[in-house]
Amino acid sequence: MNNKRKIQLNWSREAVVYQIYPRSFKDSNNDGIGDLQGIIDKLDYLNDGTEKSLGIGAIWLSPIYKSPMVDFGYDISDYMDIDSQYGSLETFNKLIKEAHKRNIKVIMDFVANHTSSKHPWFMDSRSSKTNPKRDWYIWKDPKPDGSPPNNWLSVFGGSAWTLDKTTNQYYLHSFLPEQPDLNWRNNEVKKAMEKVLEFWIHRGADGFRSDAAYHLIKDDQLRDDPPNPTYKGVKNSYKGLIHTYSQGRPEALETMNTFCSILGLHKDKYMVSEAYLDIPEMSKLYKACSNNLHAPFNFNLISLPWDAKLIRKHIDDFEASLSKIDWPNYVLGNHDKPRVVTRVGEKRARLLAMLLFTLRGMPFVYYGDEIGMKNEDIPLGKQKDLVGNRLTANRDGERTPMQWDESVHAGFSIVKPWLPVGEKYKDVNVKKELSDPISMLRLYRQLIHYRANSYVLLRGSYRSLDLGDNHVFAYLRELGDEKVLVILNFSKDEESVSFPYQKANVIYTTNREKENKIVNLKKITLAPYQGYVLEVKG
Ligand code: GLC
Repeated sequence: MNNKRKIQLNWSREAVVYQIYPRSFKDSNNDGIGDLQGIIDKLDYLNDGTEKSLGIGAIWLSPIYKSPMVDFGYDISDYMDIDSQYGSLETFNKLIKEAHKRNIKVIMDFVANHTSSKHPWFMDSRSSKTNPKRDWYIWKDPKPDGSPPNNWLSVFGGSAWTLDKTTNQYYLHSFLPEQPDLNWRNNEVKKAMEKVLEFWIHRGADGFRSDAAYHLIKDDQLRDDPPNPTYKGVKNSYKGLIHTYSQGRPEALETMNTFCSILGLHKDKYMVSEAYLDIPEMSKLYKACSNNLHAPFNFNLISLPWDAKLIRKHIDDFEASLSKIDWPNYVLGNHDKPRVVTRVGEKRARLLAMLLFTLRGMPFVYYGDEIGMKNEDIPLGKQKDLVGNRLTANRDGERTPMQWDESVHAGFSIVKPWLPVGEKYKDVNVKKELSDPISMLRLYRQLIHYRANSYVLLRGSYRSLDLGDNHVFAYLRELGDEKVLVILNFSKDEESVSFPYQKANVIYTTNREKENKIVNLKKITLAPYQGYVLEVKG
């Protein structure tokens, strides 16, 4: 099995990144809301330097800055302070120190597209047309009939414009009205936000996740977005328009490059940007930064249908689109999307975990997915996500408290948490799964440690294999003489496939066979949804 080489990980390519939704990870001060001290208390679970912990190499914290919490931190009222619900700058310092002690890097959320409407910048900006901060946001007169300046829509529903009575002009918000968009064509905005990056870098942040990166800059003439000819759904739906002018402008890429040049002034920094894109658009974002410190998220494993052929095609095409210096990443879930077990079921989620940790590139894990947490149905009156009240999809379900043990409130808190704990928490929790050799947590842990000890998985090439079977996806990872073969059966039926190799060592299988068994690759039969990680000889 593992040959226990200690590999010095190049973190911004090789670490497994674990996303923490701070509100829901661990409550240390008994107010029902997760906080930074709670995260510190659980760092050993994430990486204590031994194979008894999960073994992740970086955490990404969803926003922890001062915020009215209309969008739970994605509406920031002070970029340079920690919200008191989560702690203080001192607790943050402690978190950095404790994380670094354990070789865990810290990625901060960088919400640059918009502030909170309660941010002093916006309060000044809205106060009068002549205020020096007026141009920090995007203001425009109504059309002669009083309607919004153009047809742009908010991602969260309705017009992207809200009329502000004080000056009788509209302001732009790509998301909620409480999240006015900054005007990135204004140099002072740029300077102010550059200071934000510097501020957190000096406090020890190792990287940033750039929120809503694709939205940063809009058309300078504010032209109408064209209708989407293929869309047949309800009127005024976001999908009813092609967002040619309201997002994805070439100037946004230049702005990304500015961020990267700041990162480049410091050692070992990294940025990953949020944009739900297909391969050609991702390619553009890869090219945005001249110093190669940045990658766009690849979210396609979340949206692709359950089809081995399509998933293989996506990964092959994505790999082919990357230049030598571009570095891939893959994501199975986040705080905006239904959890992976809810989307595909437990067995398939195990197969996807195997895929995630054996592909080339950086794997991102959403907290709780490693124990197989499910989305919870939060009854209407109890919903907290305002966005979900405007649209059909409510995001509370994927944000419920981390399930640590079988005690009351799942060990997240000793008081009633801000969102209810998952119904199944007595079965699905860290404590229980740690002692169960076939649990999802143990599978994650094994795969993460195997990967961290394997040069071929960390640095080897990727090549998918033609098997003449539409349900099985197999690929080789190769480095020098070493070969790791991954075989994933996407079918609900048994499948047999053959390879031009004789024998292989079984490293892991989702079907819990004994490790280190030798299999014959001339004909190998996989149970429904079974996956294998094999070391191929010769
Ligand atoms: C991003 C975040 C999401 C937030 C939105 C507005 O998409 O991931 O949670 O609501 O930006 O900031």
